[in-house]
Amino acid sequence: MNSNSTFLVGVLLAVGGSALAGGVFMLKGERSTPENAVTHLKEYRLIDVMHELQTHSTKLYFAGIAENGELASWYNWKIQQSLSNIKEGRTEPYAYNGWDAIELATMLDIPIKEIDEVIDSGQWSRFEDAYDFLMDTCNACHAATEHS
Ligand code: HEC
Repeated sequence: MNSNSTFLVGVLLAVGGSALAGGVFMLKGERSTPENAVTHLKEYRLIDVMHELQTHSTKLYFAGIAENGELASWYNWKIQQSLSNIKEGRTEPYAYNGWDAIELATMLDIPIKEIDEVIDSGQWSRFEDAYDFLMDTCNACHAATEHS
């Protein structure tokens, strides 16, 4: 091993060592008490719910286009499950333009119900319109919260 590589190994060990120490420190720092455990639950990020909604609604789209009722129904349900994290106040308290995220999230109830009706009736020719209605409603909330 030449002196350059000895130096490199030394640097790597030092960096690795401090990362490990940092990790241990963080673990120690994050030890929860009953109070901050509750705070942590309330700080579920709205953006994480949005990523779930994006995934579920994309999958819903392809399931609907393939006229796969069972799968479409599953993803329409997954959307509602993700939304319940907002509606039941588990996301950080977001308020935009005087609107509260909890209040705004209920606007998705109508398009979700319409998609359920399309699935239950098997009238797949209505699916794309119902899906567009869902997306328009998502985007109405994005506009209201200045994230259009
Ligand atoms: C309560 C109003 C509201 C509703 C309803 C809503 N969104 Fe959002 N969405 C937001 C807000 C606010 C942000 C920005 C969050 C942030 O930056 O922290 C956002 C951001 C997003 C993002 C961007 C995430 C990123 O990484 O930047 C996506 C994707 C998204 N929403 C998808 C959806 C979909 C799909 C729906 C409908 C199924 C939906 N949203 C319904 C308020 C809403």
